[in-house]
Amino acid sequence: MKVKADLHHRFIEKTAASRQWFERAQKVIPGGVTANIKYFDPYPLVMASGSGARLIDTDGNRYIDYNLCYGALMLGHGHPVIQKAVNEQWDQMGTTVTGTPHYLEVEMAEKLVSLYPGMDQVRFTNSGLEATMFALRLATAWRGRNTIAKCSGHYHGGYDQVLVSVQQGEVDENGFPAVTADSKGLSAYWRENTVVLPFNDWERTEALLIRNHERLGAVILEPVQSGFLPPERDYLLRLREFTTLYGIPLIFDEVKTGFRLGLSGAQGRYGVIPDLTALGKVLGGGFPVGAVGGRQEIMEICSPTEKGDILTLGRSGHGEDVLFHSGTYNGHPSVMAAGMATIRVLEEPGVYERVEQEAFFLRQGMEEILDRHGVPGYTMGDGTIFNLVMPTDKGYRSTNLLQGDKTLRQRLDFALLEEGIYLKPMSRFSLSTAHTHEVVKETLTLFEEGVKKIK
Ligand SMILES: Cc1ncc(COP(=O)(O)O)c(C=O)c1O
Repeated sequence: MKVKADLHHRFIEKTAASRQWFERAQKVIPGGVTANIKYFDPYPLVMASGSGARLIDTDGNRYIDYNLCYGALMLGHGHPVIQKAVNEQWDQMGTTVTGTPHYLEVEMAEKLVSLYPGMDQVRFTNSGLEATMFALRLATAWRGRNTIAKCSGHYHGGYDQVLVSVQQGEVDENGFPAVTADSKGLSAYWRENTVVLPFNDWERTEALLIRNHERLGAVILEPVQSGFLPPERDYLLRLREFTTLYGIPLIFDEVKTGFRLGLSGAQGRYGVIPDLTALGKVLGGGFPVGAVGGRQEIMEICSPTEKGDILTLGRSGHGEDVLFHSGTYNGHPSVMAAGMATIRVLEEPGVYERVEQEAFFLRQGMEEILDRHGVPGYTMGDGTIFNLVMPTDKGYRSTNLLQGDKTLRQRLDFALLEEGIYLKPMSRFSLSTAHTHEVVKETLTLFEEGVKKIK
């Protein structure tokens, strides 16, 4: 275990139980974590419980949570309406899952179609990863081409096809992003069949699209990079125009932005309608979920009603007649119930305005505190998610967090953990309906103590 004593000194003092759990976990779980994103040096905090905006770790330390399970918990921890909805689903059905179609998935699909302008039909999955993977399969199968275009720095889940140029790094001598592998074990096929676009740089994006449009089966992007780098609306509009002109399905990965930038996600916020949309995170109300919605013409290619697929017994079907999509737990009733309860709360008038106001208040307050203490830093984001960039020299603004002063940011993040603000170091801040004005004011007091420590 790497322990940088200076940086982590108090953290280690306060978190002996987390450390013990981590040491135990490491023996039976690679790296002690079940998802690599949950790891940080010297070891991740092991949480014991959560309520509203707060988490308590196994040492009894209390935190105001700004990670919120990577943005998934839009209503905070343990919201009573979600608990009630899940209990009611169990009471009504007498089981967690029937393994058949059921009313909750129909109601949820109808709800999504009514909220998301880009959705005529919907299928459910168990994660955001599965949703983007299925969206890409639908798009490329419908278009009959395998090459995809994605943006440098955009994350769509942990599988081979999209683990290309997730780390925003090198560009060539003409400023075009490099096509790089982001995982061990990635076949060269994926790099060879991926066109990497520079987000928000239409000139270079257009040049790459013109050069490659004949082989493209899909263009996929996070409308807001990493959830906090907003798009230039013109970039989205031009991308939409180009892909429409050449008949290439445009996929918005709204796993982060769905139900975060309002009820209709980024497509509602920026008024640009994709052919396919991937959702996840908030949609599950704290349970594992994903969904793909889109134009009927594309979605219908996975329907087994006209032509049999490999699992349709007794029908004359050929494996290649249908785009195969299945999953034991797809549309799980408890998940649908939790998601519907979440949406009902979010539909109440003024909810988004309130959370966005608190996010704005927090951002303003943090910037004012940093300025007052002479520590360079600014926030970046839209809606209920933002991040803090600490530039190496004052006045410099970059859209690439990696170009900031990572050491300073890390020192601040550990100081914040010590003060009781939970954030995975270097990660973004997400707010929820549980982050009331009182909670945000308390956060600013703790934030100032953290800033004083790193001055
Ligand atoms: C934009 C985006 N797409 C896809 C995913 C993958 O979702 P999951 O972690 O549920 O598989 C994530 C997860 O953070 C994401 O942020």
